[in-house]
Amino acid sequence: MHSLIYQSKVHMVLTEEDLELLVGSAVAYNERYGITGFLSLRTNVFVQYLEGEEEAILSLMEKIRKDPRHEILNEFHLGKQKDRLFPSWSMRYISKYEQNDIGLENIICIYLNPTLIRSFGYDWTRNKLKKALLLVKQFL
Ligand SMILES: Cc1cc2nc3c(=O)[nH]c(=O)nc-3n(C[C@H](O)[C@H](O)[C@H](O)COP(=O)(O)O)c2cc1C
Repeated sequence: MHSLIYQSKVHMVLTEEDLELLVGSAVAYNERYGITGFLSLRTNVFVQYLEGEEEAILSLMEKIRKDPRHEILNEFHLGKQKDRLFPSWSMRYISKYEQNDIGLENIICIYLNPTLIRSFGYDWTRNKLKKALLLVKQFL
């Protein structure tokens, strides 16, 4: 099992309907390829966590990277893990209200800061992100 998390900047105005369509087709694709995770959007920044077989994750990430609706800012590969953290979420959309609840921005986004990653190192960052992801799991 491979997993990664990224932040991206939205490049166009996305309505609620656009988002529903995006998530709907993501769920269909992800179910087919055994990919799970979550997506959140706040103040024009997406945060997405993806987990699944490495090949499936890397080929989806190729598509996502080319998507003109956004631009990847920071991408962090957590690498190999034994089990899925979110086995029942083909792509769970985390609403603004839920984000307020769990403080997703604070607990995840700060650890995706490249300067922080450079100073504290890969293992430290990976460990912190894993803990942050476990908090998301506990809360939702
Ligand atoms: C923020 C964001 C997250 C996305 N997440 C997924 C996803 O989890 N699964 C998926 O199939 N497509 C996802 N997409 C859509 C892909 O970028 C792409 O449009 C889709 O895979 C179809 O690609 P294709 O036309 O090259 O086949 C996402 C797009 C954005 C902007």
